[in-house]
Amino acid sequence: MRKISLTGIKPTGTPHLGNYVGAIRPALELTKTYDTVYFIADYHALTTVQNGAEMRANIYKVAATWLALGLNPEESLFYKQSDIPEIFELSWALSCFTPKGFMNRAHAYKAKVEANTAAGVDVDSNVNMGLYCYPCLMDADILMFSADIVPVGKDQKQHVEFARDIAIKFNKHFGEDVFTVPEPVFQESTGVIPGLDGRKMSKSYDNYIDIFLEPKALKKRLGKIVTNSQGIEEPKDPDTCNVFKLYKLFATPEQTEALAARYRAGGMGWGHAKQELQNVLEEHLGAAREKYFYLLDHTDEIEKILAYGKERARAKAKVMMDRVRHLLGTY
Ligand code: ADP
Ligand code: TRP
Repeated sequence: MRKISLTGIKPTGTPHLGNYVGAIRPALELTKTYDTVYFIADYHALTTVQNGAEMRANIYKVAATWLALGLNPEESLFYKQSDIPEIFELSWALSCFTPKGFMNRAHAYKAKVEANTAAGVDVDSNVNMGLYCYPCLMDADILMFSADIVPVGKDQKQHVEFARDIAIKFNKHFGEDVFTVPEPVFQESTGVIPGLDGRKMSKSYDNYIDIFLEPKALKKRLGKIVTNSQGIEEPKDPDTCNVFKLYKLFATPEQTEALAARYRAGGMGWGHAKQELQNVLEEHLGAAREKYFYLLDHTDEIEKILAYGKERARAKAKVMMDRVRHLLGTY
């Protein structure tokens, strides 16, 4: 039997190239060797996205992105978290086995407390219970579907470790291997994808490049990548250049070598380098962009795919919850 890889994607905006190379592409790669469970973590996004129209639009965008980039809903279990009520029931049950101190130490909450302390306001100012209990919901997401590995960014390591601890504790308490103890895995090879200004590409800094920009908008966006002031004729160093760093993520090794040689030879301006980047992005993502916009125009197709995932996910969740309820004596 194949092992299970599971991860959740928060619908908090339009996915960017950092999300694609750092999370989506490696997760899709894992479908070759794992049974994969990928879901839209909408009730995690609710800690910050509190507008119905915005949430709905984000859910469609995230779903369309994964489907356009090659997620096959027959091959991967693909659903929306809020469609699976059993997850929220399990989350409550697990919270009763979770030391409150874990939540006090959870990094997102701790960061808020530190910021509030520094600002001289109440420690819990602007902290909702969703943010505080966020890791308990993640535990339920992960343990419900017996995930062996959880591919995530480094910032989520602590949350997966909580899930491990709770799984071990729960299993020990009832003397049964109810939950699989999950392992976080990180995408080391690609590292941090730089944004327009060279810092980590992120929604939090306005330095991201959307995955599916139309050619004209993409050209404008790529124009904003910060470069140095070297003139066309000067030889340039590819390894310190943001344009090149992005190019490398999409180009073949031969293409990468060829562009590096042009950098070093001189006679190539930043405009040329950006055009090469645009070409390679178009090659890589042009067809997926068509599919993305098609799906956003046909959200009924997205709904159908999510309904299919819901049915399959709930069948699995029911089996797990029957077992858990039996142990808890609530069934
Ligand atoms: P953002 O920083 O834009 O809010 P998220 O925190 O929602 O992005 O990230 C979602 C996923 O995308 C995470 O798994 C994270 O590891 C990955 N990711 C986001 N930005 C980058 C980046 N610049 N480089 C590599 N991976 C990234
Ligand atoms: N918290 C994750 C993030 O911010 C999203 C997420 C929710 C998740 N549930 C999960 C990731 C379960 C892995 C497993 O990116």
